[in-house]
Amino acid sequence: MRINKIPIFSVGQNHLIDYPSPKNISYFWGFGLLSGFILFVQIVTGIFLAIHYTPNVSIAFISVEHIIRDVFSGWLLRYIHSNGASFFFIVVYFHIFRGLFYGSFVNPREALWCSGVVIFILMMGTGFIGYVLPWGQMSFWGATVITNLISAIPLVGDSIVLWVWGGFSVDNPTLNRFFSLHYLFPFLIVGFVFLHLACLHLHGSNNPIGLNTYNNSIPFYPYFFIKDSLGIFILLIVFSFFLFFYPNILGHPDNYIPANPIVTPAHIVPEWYFLPFYAILRSIPHKLGGVIIMFGAILCFIFIPFITSSEFKSTSFRPLFKKLFWLFVVDCFVLGWVGQNEVESPFIEIGQISTLYYFVFLLVIIPITGRFESSVIRYVK
Ligand code: HEM
Repeated sequence: MRINKIPIFSVGQNHLIDYPSPKNISYFWGFGLLSGFILFVQIVTGIFLAIHYTPNVSIAFISVEHIIRDVFSGWLLRYIHSNGASFFFIVVYFHIFRGLFYGSFVNPREALWCSGVVIFILMMGTGFIGYVLPWGQMSFWGATVITNLISAIPLVGDSIVLWVWGGFSVDNPTLNRFFSLHYLFPFLIVGFVFLHLACLHLHGSNNPIGLNTYNNSIPFYPYFFIKDSLGIFILLIVFSFFLFFYPNILGHPDNYIPANPIVTPAHIVPEWYFLPFYAILRSIPHKLGGVIIMFGAILCFIFIPFITSSEFKSTSFRPLFKKLFWLFVVDCFVLGWVGQNEVESPFIEIGQISTLYYFVFLLVIIPITGRFESSVIRYVK
């Protein structure tokens, strides 16, 4: 019996080796594999960190110091994991913007896109609770601020917050449950990644011109195996630069101060990858309104495949939309910048304008420009 006739091997043969990939896909199609690679690295380093970490408020901070100072190569393990989280988001943000630019969410890939949004939400949850574990000042106060948002829910909000905390403030029970969930969530992400890949392989990959190139495909191995290997190689070089020269640059210095519930830091900020959403939250001067708009900013990604109206998938052929798309990218950076500043003028106003454009782009420009382009084409014809 030939080995690729055994079911598990035939799945590998069909979906990894022979998988028909469009000839023209660019390096931007490598970010999905890079995301999977970092997910794997995060799980492996996380398991080893958990061997030495202690989820107890009295020694959690010291246990992380112990990992860095005493455990053999513990510093490397810890910094790979903490910087790995940042790189995971960098790579996934590239992946999402690539999908937006080339219309990879358009019919028939709606399920693929929606599974990606679920992965993104799980990633955000994992990143948030993971940042609490070192039990530094930012861990504690970040957890306090964000969990407190739940109290904005009318009637049941306060009870839910107490339930999440496991007490009357962020404390030992909170740390314990966050540790447990932080161990669980990555495996949920793995499950959704398999679903994501199943959805991808149902209709095949999109490509830079957005036209069906099924008859113009080549097998994944060896062509894209080699192409993606170069991506992994470059990622490792950039990652090593941060790891070995600036391992703390993406974190906040206050998190090297042990958590102190009676001293509030001058300025509480989340990790950099949450900053745009943090800016959106703070752009509404009403607690419940801010919470709704922040979660709305993430959830509205789900609707994109169903409201788009363009006859073209790829933005390359949409000159007007292309400009608005790049403005959206700049807008996200501006929101990130606003998110790390104080809530004062002019950051409030800039944040509000940027929040407005964020929603206008996703909920108005995406559905409307397609119709406008179609009418221009009909007119020209
Ligand atoms: C753990 C996180 C993720 C992993 C491991 C992952 C993995 C992958 C892989 C391996 C591919 C095929 C290669 C490629 O096209 O890049 C892919 C495609 C895709 N992913 Fe993801 N993904 C993740 C998150 C997301 C998110 C957050 C979204 C969007 C919200 C998303 C949307 C898509 C789309 C639309 C495609 C099809 C691209 C095309 O064919 O043009 N993915 N993903």
